[in-house]
Amino acid sequence: MIDPLPATPALPRDLLGRPLHDLRISVIETCNYRCPYCMPEGLTPDETALDRASRLGFDEIETAVRAFARLGVSKLRLTGGEPLLRRHLPDLVARLAAVPGIEDLALTTNGSLLAGQAHALRQAGLQRLTVSLDALDPAMFRSLSGGRGNLDDVLAGIAAAEAAGFRSIKVNCVIQRGLNEDQVLAIAGHFRGTPHVPRFIEYMDVGNCNGWRREGVVPSAELRDRIHARWPLRSLTPTYRGEVATRHGYEDGAGEVGFVSSVSDPFCGDCHRARLSADGQLFTCLFAARGQPLREHIGHGEDALAEHLAGLWRVRADRYSEQRASAPADRKKIEMFYIGG
Ligand code: GTP
Ligand code: 5AD
Ligand code: SF4
Ligand code: SF4
Repeated sequence: MIDPLPATPALPRDLLGRPLHDLRISVIETCNYRCPYCMPEGLTPDETALDRASRLGFDEIETAVRAFARLGVSKLRLTGGEPLLRRHLPDLVARLAAVPGIEDLALTTNGSLLAGQAHALRQAGLQRLTVSLDALDPAMFRSLSGGRGNLDDVLAGIAAAEAAGFRSIKVNCVIQRGLNEDQVLAIAGHFRGTPHVPRFIEYMDVGNCNGWRREGVVPSAELRDRIHARWPLRSLTPTYRGEVATRHGYEDGAGEVGFVSSVSDPFCGDCHRARLSADGQLFTCLFAARGQPLREHIGHGEDALAEHLAGLWRVRADRYSEQRASAPADRKKIEMFYIGG
């Protein structure tokens, strides 16, 4: 007798009615930078780096993506740590780009190794790139990367990405009060007149090791006003429902900037993102205390995994950014470098 085809679980909604639409996959949990807001030197012990065998292999990641795609995921973003440290990454990109239902495949990188890899990633089918860049002053850039980053490498990476055919690159800038506020106009000005989009991100209380203080946050409204005073801006409509960054275009048509305002204007209501850590745990919120181990379920194959994931998504109630004010200061949270933001 032929077994009936397994029923695809209906597209799940969580307890707040939110669908599952994006999957962010951390392919490696370590980084060659030590940005103090993410992986402060000395406070994130080296033993947080997994041995290679603990990381999901490409077969496992592909199985997971096939299962997620059946539940409605059409957008993927590869993250780290620093994803370009993962060996043979273009092979993974090619495999994920071919999964039915995946319409958008992006990657977030610190850009340090991009010059050598942009072409291969593009050829493999990577559609979009986001590069982190917190300063255009070389000394400040180095300091903000924990003394490890070289600004010229990142600028060369962006140039290589353009040459490889990435058209509009998003540039993530985390702005901190009293540290790199003065870089905002320099960064905006640098990318005016290009198709690239700087996004100014409020410093967030992710994890427990960065010593976050609310006074370090510069509200997006303030940054918007500063840019607007120099180059007038107007609001643009979101590209998709639940877009993380709010979009603003220059009135003179010289391009666009975005603001990610998780602290001053939380956006949990439309949050349709799941995160998969390099060692195979599912996180349903960037600020979750712990993940759900998936490796064993991945081993049971795509069908069983899809059923399991649907069950996990249906009981999701996360909305940390909306509850931040009442969260206990000592609440345990997963670190950013572990799930890639
Ligand atoms: P697009 O698909 O291009 O819209 O990508 P994105 O803006 O979602 O991706 P990116 O990784 O560049 O996110 C920008 C910043 O927003 C990063 O610092 C993320 O950590 C942060 N971010 C992304 N998703 C969430 C989220 O669900 N919650 C919170 N609080 N922050 C998020
Ligand atoms: N607050 C805001 N953004 C952060 N990122 C890392 N840590 C933090 C934090 N504490 C950003 C990085 C990168 C993206 C993945 O997340 O700068 O652009
Ligand atoms: Fe590395 Fe990005 Fe974290 Fe900086 S923010 S330490 S570049 S993972
Ligand atoms: Fe989503 Fe959690 Fe961020 Fe809210 S805080 S938008 S639920 S990841």
